[in-house]
Amino acid sequence: MLRYMTAGESHGKGLMAILEGVPAGLTLSARDIDRDLKRRMKGYGRGKRMAIECDRADIVAGCRKGVTIGSPVGIFIKNRDFKINTLPDVFDPRPGHADLAGVMKYGFKDARDVLERASARETASRVASGAVAKVLLREFGIEILSHVVSVGPVSADVGKLSFQEIKERVRNFGKLNCAEPKAEKAMCREIDKASEKGDTLGGSFEVMVSGAPPGLGSYAQWDRRIDAAFARALMSIPAVKAVSIGRGMESARSMGSDVHDVITYNRAGKCFGRSSNNAGGVEGGVTNGQTIMVTGFMKPIATLMSPLATVNMKSKRKSGASRERSDTCAVAACGVVAEAVVAIEIASAFLEKFGSDSVEEIRRNHKAYLEAVKNI
Ligand SMILES: Cc1cc2nc3c(=O)[nH]c(=O)nc-3n(C[C@H](O)[C@H](O)[C@H](O)COP(=O)(O)O)c2cc1C
Repeated sequence: MLRYMTAGESHGKGLMAILEGVPAGLTLSARDIDRDLKRRMKGYGRGKRMAIECDRADIVAGCRKGVTIGSPVGIFIKNRDFKINTLPDVFDPRPGHADLAGVMKYGFKDARDVLERASARETASRVASGAVAKVLLREFGIEILSHVVSVGPVSADVGKLSFQEIKERVRNFGKLNCAEPKAEKAMCREIDKASEKGDTLGGSFEVMVSGAPPGLGSYAQWDRRIDAAFARALMSIPAVKAVSIGRGMESARSMGSDVHDVITYNRAGKCFGRSSNNAGGVEGGVTNGQTIMVTGFMKPIATLMSPLATVNMKSKRKSGASRERSDTCAVAACGVVAEAVVAIEIASAFLEKFGSDSVEEIRRNHKAYLEAVKNI
C-alpha cells in the first residue's frame, strides 16, 4: 500500500509530503518530480503567483545515493512567497471557497487562518507524491497523462483518439494541454473574456492510464473497488465537483448494447481484448487491462476580481468578497494534479497485488502474473 500525507500553507515556508510504502530499489531523482511540478504551474489563465514560484523538490528522506531504501520518502518544496505572518487579515469570506465554513469550524476571527491551508497551493505536494508513484509505475510499463477536454462552454472533440495519439498531441503541453488545437484556441479566448470581466471559468479534464494490468482493485469489498478510489482521489482535489469513468454519465442515457465492450480474443498473442473501451478500463471495481479513463469536472475558481457579494464578518454588513492574487482558470493544472492522485491509487493497488518491499520482488511477481493471465 502507498500512503501519503501533506503539510504546508500557501505562504508558509514551504510544502511537505511524506510517502510511505515506496519499495526499495527504485532510482529516484528530484528531476523526476520537478518535471511535474513545472507542469502544474502552467496553463493559460493562471495568476501571478505562478510567476513568483519556481517549484523544486528537495528529497529529504527515503533515498540513499539516488535509490529508495524502503523507508518513507520525504519531499520539501520551498515557497518563494513566504510571508504568512505579515499578510493582511481577511474578513470578507469568498463564496465558493472554504473561508466562512472554515472560520465557523475552527472558531477563527480571520479567514486567513483558513485559506492559507485550503488554498490549492497544497496540490504541489500531491503532484510531488504522484511523481514518485509515476516513476514506480513506469518501471512496469504503466504511463499516465492528462488533457483538457473543456473550458467553460468550449469542448474538444477527442473521444476517438487513442492514448498514444493524445500523448503525441499534448507532448509540449501547449497553452492549455488540450489535444485539439482549434478547441484550445477557443478555450483561451473564453479565458480572456472571463478575465476582462473579472470573472473565472471551470472545465473538465481526462486522465488516461496505459499499460495497467488487469486485476488491480477488487469487487470483493466496497472499499477495495478501484473506481471508487479514483472517484475519491479526484474529488479530493479542490474545486473538482464531479468524476466520471469511461463514458460515464453518457452511458446512463444509452442502451446496454451500445455501452458494454464486446470481448475478443487474439490467438496469436494469447490475449483477450475489447472492440471498444466505454468502461474506461474498469469493470466490477477491477482494472480489465484496457486504457483507464477518468474525467474530472472543475467548478470555476472562487476568487473573482469583480467580487461577489458577501458579508463582512466584523461589521455583519454587506461587502465584496476578498480578492487574493488568483487564477482565472486552472483546469490544465488541475489535470496534472489529477494525474498525480490517480498514479498514487494505481501504484497502491499495484503494490497490494504484487508485493511492496523491493522493486525486484515486484518484478518477479508481476512477470509471473502476466504469464498466468495468458494461460487462463
Ligand atoms: C490547480 C488549482 C489551482 C487553483 N487556483 C485557485 C486560485 O488561484 N484561486 C482560487 O480562489 N481558487 C483556486 N482553486 C480552487 C480552490 O482551491 C477551490 O475553489 C476551493 O478549494 C473551494 O473548492 P471546494 O469547495 O471544492 O473545496 C484552484 C484549484 C486547483 C486545483
